[in-house]
Amino acid sequence: MRDSEFEFIRSIVYERSRINLGPDKRELVSARLGKRLRATNAPDLGAYCQLLQSPGAEEELGNLIDAISTNHTFFFRENAHFDFLREKAVPEMAARARQENWSRLNVWSAACSSGEEPYSIAMTLAGCAGTWGWQIEATDISHRILAKAKAGIYKEETVSRLPADVMRTHFQKGFGPQEGYHRVKSSLRDRVSFRHLNLLEGEPPFSQPFQVIFCRNVMIYFDRPTQEQLVERLARRLVPGGYLFVGHSESLTHITHRLKMIRPAIYQKPAGA
Ligand SMILES: C[S@@+](CC[C@H](N)C(=O)[O-])C[C@H]1O[C@@H](n2cnc3c(N)ncnc32)[C@H](O)[C@@H]1O
Repeated sequence: MRDSEFEFIRSIVYERSRINLGPDKRELVSARLGKRLRATNAPDLGAYCQLLQSPGAEEELGNLIDAISTNHTFFFRENAHFDFLREKAVPEMAARARQENWSRLNVWSAACSSGEEPYSIAMTLAGCAGTWGWQIEATDISHRILAKAKAGIYKEETVSRLPADVMRTHFQKGFGPQEGYHRVKSSLRDRVSFRHLNLLEGEPPFSQPFQVIFCRNVMIYFDRPTQEQLVERLARRLVPGGYLFVGHSESLTHITHRLKMIRPAIYQKPAGA
């Protein structure tokens, strides 16, 4: 890959997603673009860069971001967050619900990838929210990954570590041509709304405030000013006392924000903030 091509891809990806591709990502970019070259019949990277600048390149720009972004995720990733949700956040919010006139618990899984995170939240809430209603908004920048998340169908190896009772309660086993696949039951799928959202573009399209926001393992790709903007944008969407969960490698220590650290990777919006 020529320097000028890497620089062009780097700047266009940054402009679109704020994903910051350092020089160490050159190999990764090159490997991931191979697929896009084949899909678009571009003979080489130079031609692909030209295609990205042509009128009507909007769809391919989306495909480029899809190809570059890392969607790695798994069920109950960073399990301590789900324990905290069940043992602390939900009982606390449920106790405030009547006084605050909250008809339900609203949770946002921002950068939800292929759905493992919002469905893990859903399984946790199904076990602890009691009669209180709840709803999960799940968003991601990648259309491709959102389609997978909406379907809620996972290969055997993706769910193999989930306990048998969780599998029985929340998944349907596939038979015949669906052998080896498991689908999240509609009782959970109906509680999760998936939609496309670039976290760094404009205001999120939600009218309701959230008691809990998960925004994990995505900030790591952004530079510090972008992280600050994003944390402020998320904080605005939290109710006072609401919780923000970030990835364990994404401590907010190095950025300026108004949240209080409660535990590693768990932050709370102070009352009145
Ligand atoms: C590594 S996955 C993390 C998934 C999940 N939150 C977890 O912790 O397991 C990162 C996700 O962030 C999404 N993403 C990257 N940039 C984004 C942006 N600007 N807006 C929204 N989502 C973004 C990617 O498409 C990807 O699905």
